[in-house]
Amino acid sequence: MLYRFAFMKSSKPLTLLLSAIKTPLYLAQIFTGAKSFHTNPVIGSHLLNVMGLHVMRVVLAAAVTRLRLFCLRGFVPPDQRASFLRDGYLKIEGYLGEDEFRHLNDEVRSMRGEVRECIQGDTLTHRLLLRDEVLKKHPFCRGLLTNKKFSRLMKYTASRNSTPIYYVQSIKSNMRPGIDDPQRTFHSDTFHPTMKAWLFLDDVSDRNGPLTYVAGSQRLSWQRLKWEYRNSVSGSKLENTYASRGSLRITEAEIQKLGLPEPTAFRVPANTLVIANTHGFHRRGEAIGGPTSRLELWAYSRTNPFNPLPGFDFNWYRRASHFAIDSYLRYQDRKAEKKGALASWHIVADDALQALPMEKEAVAVAEQEALVSTV
Ligand SMILES: [Fe+2]
Repeated sequence: MLYRFAFMKSSKPLTLLLSAIKTPLYLAQIFTGAKSFHTNPVIGSHLLNVMGLHVMRVVLAAAVTRLRLFCLRGFVPPDQRASFLRDGYLKIEGYLGEDEFRHLNDEVRSMRGEVRECIQGDTLTHRLLLRDEVLKKHPFCRGLLTNKKFSRLMKYTASRNSTPIYYVQSIKSNMRPGIDDPQRTFHSDTFHPTMKAWLFLDDVSDRNGPLTYVAGSQRLSWQRLKWEYRNSVSGSKLENTYASRGSLRITEAEIQKLGLPEPTAFRVPANTLVIANTHGFHRRGEAIGGPTSRLELWAYSRTNPFNPLPGFDFNWYRRASHFAIDSYLRYQDRKAEKKGALASWHIVADDALQALPMEKEAVAVAEQEALVSTV
């Protein structure tokens, strides 16, 4: 009875039994990056969150991240450190020299390989994982990603001494006008600091949906903690699916109430590097007009937020991460195939990254959406 009161909404005996068997796993996940109020009845427990479980995880994760950042402080100059810690992002225009950028840009635009697509609302995201075999054939791209200064900047902002996962990514907007893209709502990716980075290969403007970030929103002000608390108490009952799974959504009115500044839209020229702590509030800006796209090198890094050690950068670990990503995606492919559907990240034509969105493609996407599985 106590267990049901604390963790479960269901009163079905079988559901309760299964959940009780999984309890050690659910409890252990408190000390990981697991974030879903919906799928973990401990993390989503109304009682425990009223008692402050979620807020304690937020505060502890932030403190441990600061410890790792302190260990890695020698990786970047003091002005960049201060700027990143104050604003939650770094923006560096003209990151590469003109020739370097031209070579890299040409190389990426001719890249072919296993491209996967995700359809969210009216937006298509195309990604190609930059695994070692791909980089071997693309020396300018490899040169950038293995450059010591660049690599150290990535590691510091990720508060983790290991190489992020790199992709070439293309965001194609307005492919199905009228259907909302969930990434256009302001949100925090998860309850702890995480890093994402974009080296834009196209100019970015209101035409192709600029990344938009609320400066300083990654900091744990008293107002932010109260907001986290209120959301966690609603937890699994939050209406928005992404929010109930731990990526909390926020309105512009709430942002103002938290005393935060106006959001910054990164309308920037090609060859601008933006690195953000996506625990702060951000969104994909509106893309005005018809089908449009932007191409970028994209990095992602997330670690166990409660691990105080920054770690080591082993090649085998990077290769194992790529293998794990591949295996997971292939498992999702098989699962979707059995249902006669497409996986959320399904394989598309190998030139999809570079292909510019056309009206007829937008229509084809509408038809394809009907096939996309929820796996
Ligand atoms: Fe996000």
